Amino acid sequence: MGNFFLFIQLFTLIKLSIMQQKIRTKFKELFNTEGSLYTSPGRINLIGEHTDYNGGFVFPGAVDKGMIAEIKPNGTGKVRAFSIDLNDYAEFGLTEEDAPSASWARYIFGVCREIIKRGGNIQGFDTVFAGDVPLGAGMSSSAALESTYAFALNDLFSLNIDKFELAKIGQATEHNYCGVNCGIMDQFASVFGKAGSLIRLDCRSLEYKYYPFNPVGYKLVLLDSVVKHELASSAYNKRRKSCENVVAAIRRNHPKVEFLRDATMEMLNEVKADVSAEDYMRAEYVIEEIQRVLDVCAALEKGDYETVGEKMYGTHQGMSKLYEVSCEELDFLNDIAKECGVTGSRVMGGGFGGLLWGSAGITVPWECYQQYGDTILLSEHYDAMKRYISYILDKTIDPKTNILL
Ligand code: GLA
Repeated sequence: MGNFFLFIQLFTLIKLSIMQQKIRTKFKELFNTEGSLYTSPGRINLIGEHTDYNGGFVFPGAVDKGMIAEIKPNGTGKVRAFSIDLNDYAEFGLTEEDAPSASWARYIFGVCREIIKRGGNIQGFDTVFAGDVPLGAGMSSSAALESTYAFALNDLFSLNIDKFELAKIGQATEHNYCGVNCGIMDQFASVFGKAGSLIRLDCRSLEYKYYPFNPVGYKLVLLDSVVKHELASSAYNKRRKSCENVVAAIRRNHPKVEFLRDATMEMLNEVKADVSAEDYMRAEYVIEEIQRVLDVCAALEKGDYETVGEKMYGTHQGMSKLYEVSCEELDFLNDIAKECGVTGSRVMGGGFGGLLWGSAGITVPWECYQQYGDTILLSEHYDAMKRYISYILDKTIDPKTNILL
């Protein structure tokens, strides 16, 4: 088994250096010079979905897949950017009116604008980037991109922005330039990720604690359903609005309630007649999910992975039936997982039902892994899925600067 992981690690390093090489070659070809390399990781989340913007807890970790960018200031007021994965070039200035139309370029533009709004003095730069976080699959490729540029600009222009603010710059980019009213989880995990650990994050206070995660005898497996939903951002924003509607109703009797994190099922039931049936279901899921994260933390402290797995199934059920952000394919994967005795399984990331950008995060005891893999291999859905064995961020990234070592 050890050899197998050495092989995967070696494979990842080779892949990384091939990616770097591609970036370097393209950068030289386009700009005839050499810049610095920066990188940031994507993330997984053990439990706690849609709890971040409700002031609750999440439990993410950075992974060995990320974005890499080569960057060099060009002494002008313009950014010239090339995306290797999309084979697309964009050029834009740094004022609000210069917003590029390509959505990938808006992430870079947004990071620049958010830095400028905070008083950061930056100038134009040339850049080429690529990544191996599956795009739109619930592993936060966009947060990885935002963190990469936030780190890079902070370093190149000596801005001294702290890591909390770097994460907030990424989140504000999503809000103000990409149309997603997301929480802080993805950017926080990408900026604060640490090798071998998950992070329990209180999304209200931003207090966090690293939990070393090495479940001996179990393995985390991610399955990309490759089902994507074009309208994911509006569906996401709609879920967030439902939560806010319920908070507004509860506050009439309980003015101290700031987020659903402060609410109980009793409070929710008090306003059942005042909110829509849909908003009620959304809030019910969130209140239960916030408790599940705390239960998982307690279970992990005792090494009780059976309880962790049980809670993961609870999350899937809630995301599928109450929050309605799963889809047929993910429900199918989840059912097989259960049948094969997988310890826990659930849709990971934002989801989006019927219609999804998502992966399933699964904790598997080794003896079940083979059976689960075989069952999926034999299933008619297999062609539509990719199987990843993911492990937590290794040491190819300097945790202080996020600069590739
Ligand atoms: C997306 C958002 C996060 C979080 C998750 C769901 O990844 O960017 O802020 O809300 O969905 O947990």
